[in-house]
Amino acid sequence: MPKTFFTLIIFFLLSSPPSSFAQFGKWFGPGELSKAHEKLNGVSDCTNCHSSGVPHDKCLVCHTEIKDKLDHNKGFHAKFKTSKCGSCHVEHKGKEHNIVGLNVATFNHANTDWPLTGAHLKVKCDSCHKEKRVDAITKKPTKTITYLDASPACTSCHKDVHQTKYGIECRGCHDTTAWKAPVPTTSAP
Ligand code: HEC
Ligand code: HEC
Ligand code: HEC
Ligand code: HEC
Ligand code: HEC
Ligand code: HEC
Repeated sequence: MPKTFFTLIIFFLLSSPPSSFAQFGKWFGPGELSKAHEKLNGVSDCTNCHSSGVPHDKCLVCHTEIKDKLDHNKGFHAKFKTSKCGSCHVEHKGKEHNIVGLNVATFNHANTDWPLTGAHLKVKCDSCHKEKRVDAITKKPTKTITYLDASPACTSCHKDVHQTKYGIECRGCHDTTAWKAPVPTTSAP
């Protein structure tokens, strides 16, 4: 118990000091974590995410799937590199709170490395995103969907009716509007 208390005090000094009694109280009951992080609700688990504030590096120790994207400057998260993780993934709002915070109705796909065009604009998210997440700690598949691993290659989702006769680069002749109207690649003779 004294050790726990000591940890809390150190933790509290490292972080932004409370400016009021009410805020002081928050340190001892900041609110339950989301279901995803339920294993981190213990008093000794705070420093998994907190040091001075909630720095990226803390989250990225476990979330190597995101670290990988940031390191290679790829994907959605790389476009928001300078924003705090906690500004989009709000914590301490209870078990039922959706920590991902994705709104499929308003999500702007132009913020990914593959803007949707043509017929793709009318396709449902889950027709393209079917992969399952790999657990951040155990690295085993979960039941949750992931948006991280979709392959942008046309042939990963579409059958090559020409049976590789024309190569794998479909875009030389087609766009995403309709298959039946191939776009000419070479100018007319
Ligand atoms: C026609 C197929 C298709 C549809 C429909 C689609 N996506 Fe994607 N999406 C992709 C592909 C392919 C990528 C991978 C781009 C890359 O990283 O090269 C991607 C990337 C993403 C990413 C970025 C992942 C990352 O971390 O970089 C998010 C988030 C995402 N899609 C969300 C959505 C949501 C939400 C919807 C529905 C509103 C949706 N997508 C609809 C094909 C699709
Ligand atoms: C601008 C808002 C925003 C910021 C900042 C942000 N995220 Fe996300 N994050 C999202 C959205 C939206 C999704 C859902 C789409 C996706 O998976 O890419 C997401 C998805 C995720 C996922 C699940 C990915 C999957 O699809 O499997 C993890 C893990 C994650 N974020 C961690 C982080 C970490 C760690 C940071 C800080 C380094 C961070 N995020 C910063 C908005 C954000
Ligand atoms: C899974 C990660 C995680 C764990 C574990 C965690 N927190 Fe947090 N906490 C956050 C995030 C994210 C925020 C939002 C603040 C931000 O992003 O700047 C936050 C905010 C807070 C705040 C509000 C003040 C501030 O710094 O913004 C307090 C107080 C707090 N946490 C205390 C705790 C305590 C005490 C524990 C341990 C019992 C704990 N937290 C465990 C992620 C976590
Ligand atoms: C001690 C390891 C650990 C730390 C530190 C950690 N997480 Fe997680 N996180 C997990 C685990 C485990 C899950 C649930 C399994 C999964 O989806 O990977 C998870 C799930 C998530 C999800 C939901 C993914 C989904 O699609 O359901 C998001 C978003 C997320 N974490 C963001 C963060 C952010 C932001 C931080 C830092 C404030 C953080 N995590 C710190 C281990 C961690
Ligand atoms: C991540 C999966 C995914 C990728 C990658 C992808 N598509 Fe699609 N595309 C779909 C889905 C799902 C549909 C809607 C169902 C269908 O028509 O097959 C669709 C529909 C289409 C259509 C409309 C078909 C019709 O008859 O209405 C065209 C054309 C098309 N895609 C072209 C392309 C081209 C060209 C590429 C490569 C640049 C590509 N797609 C990459 C998933 C994908
Ligand atoms: C050299 C140009 C060229 C390339 C490259 C090419 N196509 Fe085509 N594609 C055509 C032409 C021409 C037609 C229309 C005549 C036909 O059906 O053969 C067509 C038709 C199609 C159709 C419609 C078939 C039908 O019966 O409605 C699909 C689907 C298609 N292509 C998919 C692909 C995919 C997937 C790729 C990439 C692996 C690809 N094509 C690459 C020229 C091309």
